[in-house]
Amino acid sequence: MVTEAEQNDGEWEPKIITILCNWCSYAGADLAGVSRIQYPPNIRIVRVPCSGRVNPLYIIKSLQLGADGVLVSGCHPGDCHYTSGNYYARRRFTILKSLLESVGIEPGRVNFSWISAAEGERFAQVVSEVVESVKTLGPARRLVRRGGSNE
Ligand code: FES
Repeated sequence: MVTEAEQNDGEWEPKIITILCNWCSYAGADLAGVSRIQYPPNIRIVRVPCSGRVNPLYIIKSLQLGADGVLVSGCHPGDCHYTSGNYYARRRFTILKSLLESVGIEPGRVNFSWISAAEGERFAQVVSEVVESVKTLGPARRLVRRGGSNE
């Protein structure tokens, strides 16, 4: 079996779970793709209807199961397809971030942004910044469930 580190000549590369709302950020990622804008291949995209549907447990579970970082992105404030989902998301993520910090997860591992369907360039830029930020932090320590390990 060949590990990802071996495929990359032993150099560690972060895995970033990227959760995008269908109406803006996913379309922005799509635009980056069709426009052939380069960005690091470290992300694994999960499409959700709205950033307001992102349960904070998805982020915790991602870190628990081996992601080195998480990026959540939705429509800009005022542009949410469901009117206010991104406002709920913003509140949730602010609380989650301070909660994660209190248990030792560095703030740079969990990132939130707003990217519209017309911002392919911005999508590539945000992904590059997040990947660089997580590379600087190094591999994530695994969150271990109480009473057992994840391995
Ligand atoms: Fe994009 Fe709600 S539909 S954040």
